[in-house]
Formats: sequence, structure tokens, C-alpha cells
Amino acid sequence: MEKKINVGVLGCTGAVGQKLIALLENHPWFETTEVAASENSAGQKYSERVNWKEAKAIPENVKGMTIKKCGDKLNAKILFSGLDSSVAGEIEDYYANEGYAVISNSKNHRMTGDVPLIIPEINHSHFEIINIQRKRFSKGGFIVTNPNCSTIVMVLALYPIYKNFGLEKVIVSTMQAISGAGYPGVPSLDIIGNVVPYIKDEEEKMQTEPLKIFGELEGDKINFADFTLSAMCNRVPVQNGHTTSISFKTRKPATKEAIIKSFNEYEHLGLPFSPEKVLQYFDDPARPQPTLDLYNGNGMTVSVGNLRECNVLDWKMTAFGHNTIRGAAGAAILNAEYLVKNEYLK
Ligand SMILES: NC(=O)c1ccc[n+]([C@@H]2O[C@H](COP(=O)([O-])OP(=O)(O)OC[C@H]3O[C@@H](n4cnc5c(N)ncnc54)[C@H](OP(=O)(O)O)[C@@H]3O)[C@@H](O)[C@H]2O)c1
Repeated sequence: MEKKINVGVLGCTGAVGQKLIALLENHPWFETTEVAASENSAGQKYSERVNWKEAKAIPENVKGMTIKKCGDKLNAKILFSGLDSSVAGEIEDYYANEGYAVISNSKNHRMTGDVPLIIPEINHSHFEIINIQRKRFSKGGFIVTNPNCSTIVMVLALYPIYKNFGLEKVIVSTMQAISGAGYPGVPSLDIIGNVVPYIKDEEEKMQTEPLKIFGELEGDKINFADFTLSAMCNRVPVQNGHTTSISFKTRKPATKEAIIKSFNEYEHLGLPFSPEKVLQYFDDPARPQPTLDLYNGNGMTVSVGNLRECNVLDWKMTAFGHNTIRGAAGAAILNAEYLVKNEYLK
């Protein structure tokens, strides 16, 4: 790429915003030129306002930036959104209407008919419905979303099975990291030595988003996939990484060997953020684990293990992934890369 594309980060002070800024440092195609957040942050120098929680230092090109207020004109073509869902819907609509390509981590537009909900290794064909959005956002802008963080982990593990054997039923229990609640998130007294068996709206997201992602694009709309999911979501005292225990019933008979073989079928998209392996299967029944597998594929690989027969449904397994990389910021960057490579940006 001759000249890097200017990108902005909405919600730049939050957990996802910080991860976006950290991952975008030295990106071969993108240059962070704007950071924006609420009125409380606007006008302040980024390094002075942010409570930086990433291990590496704030990128040199960002630390002296003045935070803009969401709604200001921004010198960027792509806007990555890590906005709180209480405000993301309206702000993302505003920027799409102003001609920006908005790549969102928030739930607000995921189920909107003409907004693609994308994991590019699975459903990049759904990017085509951006053309429907271009009719309502006349300046060429659009919104693309990535799924909920635990949904991404589960869906990447299930997709090869869905494609090869079909799915009839899925039951999933999650053990989700504290960082999934943003910063400061869950109070320490509520989570140290504890499990909280409720995460607002999480079960609904895990039960509906996969049906859109596995759906078929037909003309102007996506026909949802036809299987049922039941999700039970728990917050656990793990800093980063969501673990999902998944039981599933297939439509066609499958063998353990055939399922494991299917995990290697993902095509490599050839994008800067594509991991070498989308899924990594472990023969060791005690894997994956957050402390061992968080950074597999630089946080973009979903790790799977312990596939075995289930006494209730057909099979069960464990899938694990980094919630703010593969589950959020890295997922959004991968979507943006796909859009650029495939000339969706005007
Ligand atoms: N954490 C995860 O693992 C994860 C994974 C997938 C998706 N998500 C989703 O990503 C989004 C961000 O999550 P997070 O965990 O990063 O949350 P967070 O740490 O609470 O950050 C929220 C961000 O939104 C900004 N904001 C709040 N009110 C605003 C307003 N009125 N106008 C403009 N900006 C405003 C905040 O800016 P100020 O500092 O100025 O208030 C902050 O930058 C959420 O929708 C979440 O559901 C999170």
C-alpha cells in the first residue's frame, strides 16, 4: 500500500478502544489519526486522560493526540468503534451517514437487516449487503459489525462442523473473563474467589448471532440458519480470555476424526491479522486454558480441545479465545482489512 489509510478510534479510552490503539500501532495499511470519546474526555491529551491498561506503552503517534468528542468531524476514512452500547447506536449511525466506514464492536446494529455481522473466515459474502446500506447512507458510509466476544469463540469452533455435518442443537456454558466487562468492570469484591452466573444480554446474543452469521445471503437479505442454541453465561475470575463448553447435535453422523479434520479446513485470508491457524485443536484433554492459550496466533486463534461423545447431545468440546483480540479489536481490524483488500471502501 503506497499510503496508509487514516483510521479513528471511537471509545478510545475504553478496554476495546485501548486494544484497538495498541494493535493498530505499526499496522501495514492503517494509521491512527484520530481518537474520540465522550464529552468528559474531549479536549484532553490522550496520555493524560486514559487509564492505559495495555502491557506495551501508548503508541508514540497517539499519546499526544487531543481526544475529540464523538460527533466531531474526524480526519479518517475508517472509524473503529469501541463505544459503550448506551451510545454506540446513534453515534455509529451519525458517522455512517457522514460517509465514514464504521467498524463496530457494539451490539446495537448487529441484528439490523442491512448491517453485516461478520467473521470474515466464515461469512465474508455477507459484506455485499453494504450495498443496501449505501442507499440510506448517501455519502458512501456504512456500518459493519463483529459478533459478541463469546459468540465469536463458539462460532469459529462450530462453523466447520456446521458446514460438514449440519447442526440441530447446541448447548453452551461460558466462563468469561473480567475484561469482557470493560474497565473498571466488575467490582473486585464481586469477582475475586467468585463466579457470577449472569451477564446482561449475553445469552440472547449467543443464541441469535450465530444464526445470522451462518445464514445465507439471498438478494437483499440474510436467511438465518435453522438450529437452536441454549447459552448459560458466567463471569469468572480470569483476567482475559473466554472459555466455552459446547455440546452439539449434528444433522449428519460424524466421527471424532472427521470433526477434528474439519477444524483444519479454514482458508487463510492472506490479511495482516489472519492467524496462521484459525483453529488449533489440542489432543491434550486439559487444554485449552487461559494461561496457556491466550496468545495463540497473536490472540487471533481460537483454541479447541477435548472433543468427546456427549450422553445428551452427540458431542462436546471446549473452545477458548482472547476476548478483546479475536473477540473484539482484532476481529474489527480483520474486517477492515478484508474491506480494503476487496475494494469496499470508496
Ligand atoms: N471488553 C470486551 O471484551 C468486549 C468484547 C466485545 C465487544 N465489546 C463491546 O465493545 C464496546 C466497548 O466495550 P469496552 O469493554 O471497551 O467498554 P468501556 O471500557 O466501558 O469503554 C467504553 C468507551 O465508550 C466511551 N463512551 C461512553 N459514553 C460515551 C458517550 N456518551 N459519548 C462518547 N463516548 C462514550 C467511553 O469514553 P469516556 O472515557 O470518555 O467515557 C469509553 O471510551 C461495548 O459495546 C462492548 O459491549 C467489548
